[in-house]
Amino acid sequence: MTKDQLQELIGKMTLEEKAAMCSGADFWHTESVERLGIPAMMVSDGPHGLRKQDQKADHLGVNDSIKAVCFPAGCGTAASFNRELITKMGEVLGEECQAEGVGVILGPAVNIKRSPLCGRNFEYYSEDPYVASEMAGALIEGVQKKNVGTSIKHFLANNQEHRRMSSSSEVDERTLREIYLAAFEGAVRKKKPWTVMCSYNRINGTYAAENKEVLTDILREEWDFDGFVMSDWGAVNNRVPDLYAGLELEMPSSGGINDKLIVEAVKEGRLEEAVLDRAVERILNIVYRFEENRDKTAVFDRDKDHETARKVAEETIVLLKNEGDILPLDKKEKIAFIGKYASKPRYQGGGSSHINSHKVTSAWDCVKDWGNITLAEGFRDEKDEIDEALMAEAVEQAKAAGAAVIFAGLPDAFESEGFDRSHMRMPECQNELIARVAAVQPNTIVVLHNGSPVEMPWADQVKGIVEAYLGGQAVGGAQVDILFGKVNPSAKLPESFPYKLEDNPSYLYYVGEGDRVEYREGVFVGYRYYDKKKMDVRFPFGFGLSYTTFDYSDLKLSTESISDQDNLSVSVDVTNTGKMAGKEVVQLYVSDVESTVIRPVQELKGFEKVELAPGETKTVTFTLDKRAFAYWNTTLHDWHVESGEFLIRIGKSSRDIVLEASVNVTSTVRVPVRYTLDTTFGDVMKDPEAMEMMAPFMKLGILETGGEEETGAASEAISSQMQEAMMRYMPLRGLLSFSGGAVTMEQLQGMVDALNARR
Ligand code: BGC
Repeated sequence: MTKDQLQELIGKMTLEEKAAMCSGADFWHTESVERLGIPAMMVSDGPHGLRKQDQKADHLGVNDSIKAVCFPAGCGTAASFNRELITKMGEVLGEECQAEGVGVILGPAVNIKRSPLCGRNFEYYSEDPYVASEMAGALIEGVQKKNVGTSIKHFLANNQEHRRMSSSSEVDERTLREIYLAAFEGAVRKKKPWTVMCSYNRINGTYAAENKEVLTDILREEWDFDGFVMSDWGAVNNRVPDLYAGLELEMPSSGGINDKLIVEAVKEGRLEEAVLDRAVERILNIVYRFEENRDKTAVFDRDKDHETARKVAEETIVLLKNEGDILPLDKKEKIAFIGKYASKPRYQGGGSSHINSHKVTSAWDCVKDWGNITLAEGFRDEKDEIDEALMAEAVEQAKAAGAAVIFAGLPDAFESEGFDRSHMRMPECQNELIARVAAVQPNTIVVLHNGSPVEMPWADQVKGIVEAYLGGQAVGGAQVDILFGKVNPSAKLPESFPYKLEDNPSYLYYVGEGDRVEYREGVFVGYRYYDKKKMDVRFPFGFGLSYTTFDYSDLKLSTESISDQDNLSVSVDVTNTGKMAGKEVVQLYVSDVESTVIRPVQELKGFEKVELAPGETKTVTFTLDKRAFAYWNTTLHDWHVESGEFLIRIGKSSRDIVLEASVNVTSTVRVPVRYTLDTTFGDVMKDPEAMEMMAPFMKLGILETGGEEETGAASEAISSQMQEAMMRYMPLRGLLSFSGGAVTMEQLQGMVDALNARR
């Protein structure tokens, strides 16, 4: 429908109909208007499968939805670092939605993993905003290719589950821009999601739902968002101000209560009808975009989609440790599969994303007919209690085999939407099982099922560690293919695994005091902190092993110096030097060598996944623009690059930088300086023109260092560094104290005014 047609239609709607259009008809549908032929549109969770509910609707995944296909959760799909693969997954989800008549799937969920404790980390992508935004963009592209909308969520700064409906995330401007907004920004700008879901929490005191700065000034005006904003389920706080701030659709239905408030506000002149009309237009624009592009041929082929889920899972499993090349295992060897998750994998998280899987394949399902593999449950996961009989059986089987694979991880009760973890440990019964098995079986491998990092006290006692994350319903097949070498692992960690919770930068402040959560670590989230602190971590951001080896060579920059308006091309050759075909995630980090602002040591600004046959070489190229070098300047309220040298670092992980080159970037923007009597001479000296203007004062000589050589005790006490520092950090008003009356307050103030008057 064209804009004119939409407006004509809205012109025919009554005030009441328009107000009703701004809230759900029920739990999952937008409102319809029969007399005008306006259809309802269904929305459903997301993000890693379709949770279409009809009856007994709820938003916490309590009641059953239709049988569907559960793909790997966000924690895993991010680890694939494979945009094309996740776009493909999006296409499948889009097709499923078309077949089921769902107009918008509620995802992707891109909130930054500020702390490993967030109960919803399993749905989220990364501690790094570039990864989060790129992977979200890939999913959006796929779904929307099928003419189905997405709802990137939860906007904004919703990084904990604890008190999620009332807490206020207190975040400074620069941190919001560089970390929390940035996770959404690239995906919104480049991939244009049809909708955005605002979060429950407040941002610096104002609920996301009524945050005009976030929903309108930034999202619409700066980022050109042209879809509609819907509330998280129950996030509307104050309907009329929310509408004004830019929240178009309230979900679910408020039973008409809030619609009435809108009608009254318009009638009483407190809300311009044009604001309401604009909201209705934005909602209907999407409703018709779906309606007019329905694909009647779409089918929800669950078995076929299960295979896609398996393909995705293969690239979400990260090989973390492989001592003595214990993996891949020999298919003919006697192997003990141990742990409940071998036959009943934990493959998804709890809450609104919970999928009613049409089937689940466990690792055991895939090997049980081989004849050489035994199975022992080892632990129960309903309670963290050692079951001595299960433990003894597991140890016996491990002893009798050539290798033991323990399928361990976090039970559902440990991580879910709605609450945060209180520690980073695995259940004690599992830690004990791993220790006891490793004590009798030197070839022990642990396969982990978890949505967020765990502490691994046993890491040095086992030869192999495989992070399977929450791999979706087809995870067993993918695990077996990786364990036995049919598939070469190629995923990398999209987050750091600290040794212990206390190492995490948010540890001191997470989960806040009451409703106030201060993000005091600022931009130093994840590796940005660990790198700056030179702190060892269990496994670093970007890390993951392969069964083959890759060599990097020939790093080239298109030029040695650029202005902040230019792009820089970077290319590097990657060669598979091993015997097995494999995929490598080539990572590009940018490091500002010298900066007047406090910045991370390095930040990820590019990644590409390449597939290489043995012996094959491919050239990987990246294009970097201003943003790759910039930080958020709070004077300019804009991205800014300081002139100087930057390092372009190519790495296999954030801690394994293999090649480095340098580029000089020149800024074209002058950051305005406001001079006052408190401005130091050192700061004036940075501005040659200002120095010239100050020359008459300088001639007074009071600031000059050196002169007569000090002797004796004075020379010991007064070094030239000290004299220089005294001068550099002396405020301009020091002239009044030290010029012996030669400079007056009026003269000095006149000079400060003249400095500020320049353009
Ligand atoms: C969750 C959303 C979800 C919605 C609908 C809320 O509780 O936070 O992510 O899309 O419910 O189920």
